[in-house]
Amino acid sequence: MPPDDKDRLIRFSITVPEKLLCEFEKCYYSDERDNRSEAVRFLMREYIAGERWKCSNGEIFATITIVYDHHLPELTRKLTLAQHDNGDVIICSTHVHINHETCLECIITKGLSNQIQIFTEALKNIRGIKSVNVNVSSEI
Ligand code: NI
Repeated sequence: MPPDDKDRLIRFSITVPEKLLCEFEKCYYSDERDNRSEAVRFLMREYIAGERWKCSNGEIFATITIVYDHHLPELTRKLTLAQHDNGDVIICSTHVHINHETCLECIITKGLSNQIQIFTEALKNIRGIKSVNVNVSSEI
């Protein structure tokens, strides 16, 4: 496919059980969407992002959101160390002080899924981190 044709739209048909289609339409109409094609494109992108996350050498964009108690001993030192160890996949991060004890940090990453998964596991292993949520996005 020539590079200038990559955004060309293609019509195709698929076969699904009627009940599945009815439920799908109920969901996306209640979501105030009125374009079935756009709803399917949205799901396809999510599927691609999910598959790239599973594929160890797939390049992905992911935001990692962590919540933690910054008063716990060693936590901030280990968190900084984990981020320096994975600095080549971190694009930027944003820190928000939720209340006196709790911090929320959003880390935007780009890189191979296996390295971002290793980074995510390192974050989960830091005592005092309350949650680690990963959201993988597709650029296609
Ligand atoms: Ni804070």
